[in-house]
Amino acid sequence: MNAVREARLSLIRERLPLYEDAKRLEHTVGVYKECQWLAKKFGLSEEDSYTVCAAALLHDIAKNLSHGQALEICERYGVQPPAVPAVMHQYTGAFLAREVFGEEIVTDAVCSAILCHTTGKVGMTVTDKMLFVADFTEAGRKYRSCRDIREYLHSECEKINKNEKTALSRLLNDTVKRIVGFTVTYLIEKGKPIDADMILTWNEIVSEN
Ligand SMILES: [Fe+2]
Ligand SMILES: [Fe+2]
Repeated sequence: MNAVREARLSLIRERLPLYEDAKRLEHTVGVYKECQWLAKKFGLSEEDSYTVCAAALLHDIAKNLSHGQALEICERYGVQPPAVPAVMHQYTGAFLAREVFGEEIVTDAVCSAILCHTTGKVGMTVTDKMLFVADFTEAGRKYRSCRDIREYLHSECEKINKNEKTALSRLLNDTVKRIVGFTVTYLIEKGKPIDADMILTWNEIVSEN
């Protein structure tokens, strides 16, 4: 990666402890490493590698905000607070990240990945999908479902050459599908609400296959 992009990522890493405690930072670094690995395995361009790495570092930046602070950001940007509180931080995170670091560092593509990292969305880009996946498969996630999907992704990835773009894209889509499928089932079993974007993501994935 060129020096400017490296410097931008370093700046984010330096300032991140102002927004995240040690435990969250550990998760964030895990997502960052998973994204770096995916970017390499998928042979992403330098620009896309930057996008996914910057988005990984910033994706949970707003998770420690109080509900009041989060509502205040939503109001400032004219965003309807989501019906499912757990997904609030994907919206507030994108806005906060851009406020703190500016649009050169937090590009539209970086914002896009942060904005759907919890729910997914219709028409996700490759970098959106990678952050969505890495948030679930990073090494620090110890749940059985995370371990199983991480193992699946990593072992399948090792079998594919980085020039086999169709096979890689199919693997990424399949991993998104497994994560969405698991999450929707889990939420139903627990009697918890499901964000509408996650349902739309599911419908899109199953109609593609
Ligand atoms: Fe998150
Ligand atoms: Fe996260």
